[in-house]
Amino acid sequence: MTRDTAIFDLIQEELQRQRRGLELIASENFTSLQVMQAMGNVMTNKYAEGYPGKRYYGGCEVVDKSEQLAIDRLKDIFNIEYANVQPHSGAQANMAVQAVVLQPGDAILGLDLSMGGHLTHGSPVAFSGKTYQAHHYGVRKEDGLVDYDDMEKKAVEVKPKLIICGASAYSRDWDYARVRAIADKVGALVMADIAHPAGLIAAGLLNSPFDHCHFVTSTTHKTLRGPRGGIIMMKNDFENPWGITTPKGEVRTVSQLIDLSVFPGIQGGPLEHVIAAKAVSFFEILQDDYKVYARQMQSNAQAMSNAFLEKGYDLVSGGTDNHLLLIDLRNKGISGKKAENTLVKADITINKNMVPFDDKSPFITSGIRVGVPALTTRGFKEKEMKQVVHWLDQVLMNTDNDSVIATVRGEINEYMSGFDLYPEMG
Ligand SMILES: Cc1ncc(COP(=O)(O)O)c(C=O)c1O
Repeated sequence: MTRDTAIFDLIQEELQRQRRGLELIASENFTSLQVMQAMGNVMTNKYAEGYPGKRYYGGCEVVDKSEQLAIDRLKDIFNIEYANVQPHSGAQANMAVQAVVLQPGDAILGLDLSMGGHLTHGSPVAFSGKTYQAHHYGVRKEDGLVDYDDMEKKAVEVKPKLIICGASAYSRDWDYARVRAIADKVGALVMADIAHPAGLIAAGLLNSPFDHCHFVTSTTHKTLRGPRGGIIMMKNDFENPWGITTPKGEVRTVSQLIDLSVFPGIQGGPLEHVIAAKAVSFFEILQDDYKVYARQMQSNAQAMSNAFLEKGYDLVSGGTDNHLLLIDLRNKGISGKKAENTLVKADITINKNMVPFDDKSPFITSGIRVGVPALTTRGFKEKEMKQVVHWLDQVLMNTDNDSVIATVRGEINEYMSGFDLYPEMG
């Protein structure tokens, strides 16, 4: 077969890009080589609609074992009773849970997208916002913290069937017990989307949602450092409150409904090669050195936060508990868009981000989101984070000075050559 050199050349080019730059996108990470190797495997050839032991295709005896290993390892990580590892992405994990709990038109309550929430939590441009009647709570203007009083007030007003907590751009921990108390008051169920802080929760460094939230969803590719994908978890299974039964009239449990919601509800054949890679990443999380990594992420984010504060940057909520920072650049007179576009010229990748009560559009924004999972994987510690902030500041203070930007880029490329990334790939 003729080799597709066009794509393999681009893969090489992407490897070089990842090697030479400062990767600060909070939702990105570098998987281990074995996670990637497991992803590029013959299981991509296998159709396996259904679940281990209950498939619609023959020849699933091997992928049954690997999917079961992924499930068992994930259950071990969080000490839980139920896990589904099939969602192709975080968005699909959320969609599958929503499809179990909600009928079209039902009310949901999630964190506003412009205050750090995610599209799948009821944004009008996404499936969740188009299908359900979406309402939002926010963060407090004075300190940038989630406004649980606002959540409670809105919950009493709109009587949501589902309250969603969790965020894409929120640097503080969550009070899951408070969310559950609010939900109980109005008869709602709770879904915690821990896509961002999942790794810190796995390591016991942040509050665990499992004792308080009925459903917990996550991506696997951020702080969990696995392949791109989604997962759905529950601490305990429970009998469905909607009286849904099997064709034989037996009441289904909620875990059965979630399995059915993922397949055949919203997906077809599971990506068994990706599930194998998820299993490898879960194995890695169960090793002692993952805890060291998670602690380092948290210390690095704090070191970075202090360095930005020393240089007069305005951090939403004043700092961080997790792996990311949200920086309001209004006092520096730069938009998020300008910052993103200029930093990339110096091989620094971040994303523009709205800040709470932003006066600019989502395409311009007043802020940037900066995260440490990827650089922590490359071996950066507190000292290196100070250097990173120095470079960011130099570029942000010289957005129209190409020679300063070129010098910073040269320094970064030289520096990064001292931190291995996939040396086995040549
Ligand atoms: C909180 C949250 N939930 C869900 C998702 C969606 O994940 P995916 O991009 O895998 O669909 C993201 C992605 O950034 C996220 O931040």
